[in-house]
Amino acid sequence: MQLVILGAPGAGKGTFSQSIKKYKQFTHIATGDIFRKHIKDQTDLGKVASTYIEKGKLVPNDLTDDLIFSELNLVKKDFILDGYPRNLDQAKKLDEMLRELKIPLTACVSLSIEQEVIVDRLRSRVVCSNCAYSYNLKTAPTKTKGICDNCGGKLVHRKDDSPEIVTHRIQIYERETEPVINYYEEQGKLLEIDCGEIDFVTQIDEIWSLLLEREVKV
Ligand code: AP5
Ligand code: MG
Repeated sequence: MQLVILGAPGAGKGTFSQSIKKYKQFTHIATGDIFRKHIKDQTDLGKVASTYIEKGKLVPNDLTDDLIFSELNLVKKDFILDGYPRNLDQAKKLDEMLRELKIPLTACVSLSIEQEVIVDRLRSRVVCSNCAYSYNLKTAPTKTKGICDNCGGKLVHRKDDSPEIVTHRIQIYERETEPVINYYEEQGKLLEIDCGEIDFVTQIDEIWSLLLEREVKV
């Protein structure tokens, strides 16, 4: 099963990907996490990407497309793309890549959420500096304060979670990424989930059944 997860900053793309892994051994390909790893390791890509990410801007398409193509080439199937595509050009590029690799996309899961909820969630979000798992100091804390449940790594706040940068990321999402939702709707691939008032973590069995039905149709 091959999935694209769309959603505003803080909608829960990372959390959804963590939750759905209990049903299948998905490879979680999260562009933001990969860029942050490059930044931590001070690679050439990391140095370029950090100048965009710290301002809340999108990293240029050519760099991002190449990164995804090499990831897809390695995994071939059963992956979750979290944070890619993020504009129409990336969405068209992804279709080309999947055609070339002969991999069908099962569905695009779009997580919809109110803006006020986002700002509040990101203020209390912490992420693992090692494995990139996402937690929330208010709603989803770790068993031991400051330590990741998944790998024992140290938890940190993300630099781009400051309120001004979050506002800018939301604007970019509305302008660049929202059109991608229609793109997948027109292809009959869209599965929209409200993850604001109702916590999708409690709906995950139902979502999984819907995804299995889509998999049969592909
Ligand atoms: P990226 O890391 O992808 O950031 P984002 O899209 O802004 O999304 P986040 O990771 O902030 O949020 P999330 O939806 O994963 O939420 P989470 O699960 O953590 O990208 C960062 C940057 O990299 C971009 O700004 C850009 O510069 C660059 N980049 C990345 N991809 C790119 C691309 N394709 N092209 C160009 N540039 C690119 O949840 C948030 C919080 O809410 C957590 O605390 C969590 O515990 C809590 N929470 C989640 N779900 C729920 C729920 N259902 N109920 C209650 N709490 C919840
Ligand atoms: Mg994320």
